[in-house]
Amino acid sequence: MESIFFVNGVMNWYKDHKRDLPWRHTNNPYKIWLSEIILQQTRVKQGLPYYQRFIEKFPNVQSLAQAEEEEVLRLWQGLGYYSRARNLHACAQMITKEYEGTFPTNYEELLKLKGVGKYTAAAIASFAFKQDVPVVDGNVFRLLSRYFGITEDIAIPKSFKSFFELGQKLIPKKEPDIYNQAVMEFGAIQCTPKNPDCKNCNLADSCFANSNQRQEELPVKTKKVKVRDRYFHYFVIKLKDQLIMKKRGRNDIWQGLYDFFLIEENSFQSPDQWENKNILSLLAQPEVELQNESKIYKHLLTHQRIYAKFFEIEIKDQFVINKQLKSSGLDFFNFNEIKNLPKSILISNYLDEKVF
Ligand code: ADE
Repeated sequence: MESIFFVNGVMNWYKDHKRDLPWRHTNNPYKIWLSEIILQQTRVKQGLPYYQRFIEKFPNVQSLAQAEEEEVLRLWQGLGYYSRARNLHACAQMITKEYEGTFPTNYEELLKLKGVGKYTAAAIASFAFKQDVPVVDGNVFRLLSRYFGITEDIAIPKSFKSFFELGQKLIPKKEPDIYNQAVMEFGAIQCTPKNPDCKNCNLADSCFANSNQRQEELPVKTKKVKVRDRYFHYFVIKLKDQLIMKKRGRNDIWQGLYDFFLIEENSFQSPDQWENKNILSLLAQPEVELQNESKIYKHLLTHQRIYAKFFEIEIKDQFVINKQLKSSGLDFFNFNEIKNLPKSILISNYLDEKVF
């Protein structure tokens, strides 16, 4: 009874309040998948122009699969969590190679795709193929825990199962797509994390949290993310209209994006303290001197706080760059090329502020 009331209440609310979003006018799995990958960890307002640019540039999975990874990263620039972009590209290639260019049509198969987890698989399965698999994301955890008074800690993986099973009971077979859109939208707009609009909520009278004034405590989430501080010393080496940049490697943030020669330490240090770092073989040249030390740039990621300083050096000819540095992936790029390289927001911000 309570469940029927909930489902009808959420779906009726959705009909009147839903935002008009392009991926809600299609059942094309490519477009739905693309929108969902973009919207992971990204707000609709921020993700929307990216979605439009991607669809324009890559109207189907084949065109995305054929693109260069750098082009995909460049289009992704500013959205963060770049592994999503790499997975997006790898997944498009997987679909063209292993699935003959056609998206799998059910939840279990969708789960096998790169970068597609339970939430995204449920979204594609329901929106594109009307399969009755419930989505469980942050919005849904919040809405269900408040309405039904569920106190399970959502930071613990096994809680996902409880919410998923409750979702399976709630989701209507006829309109699983509408139900899934509705619970997410209700969570995003009505049952917000802070100051939910309970006074104007059609579910308020039967909502556990509203009846017991527990909105602030639900959902229960214990895990605190540890944030690590990192100190980046970037060396911006300039030769005429060129800078030395480097494509970032595996096993760290910003894989595949370009930045500068980097020395990381546990705190900021002055460059003459790096006795045995190979940049010194460069700095030791008599004609090379440090010209400027930038202000400190701060960049926040989910689990890391990056503090970066840029040490600017001008060199007169490229022989100053020794073989060792070259073989570590450093190369010269002119300013036009740099504009088109995929970069982190930190590097873009620095370059935007700097007039060379
Ligand atoms: N956030 C994640 N997926 C979404 C969708 N399909 N519509 C609106 N917001 C979303």
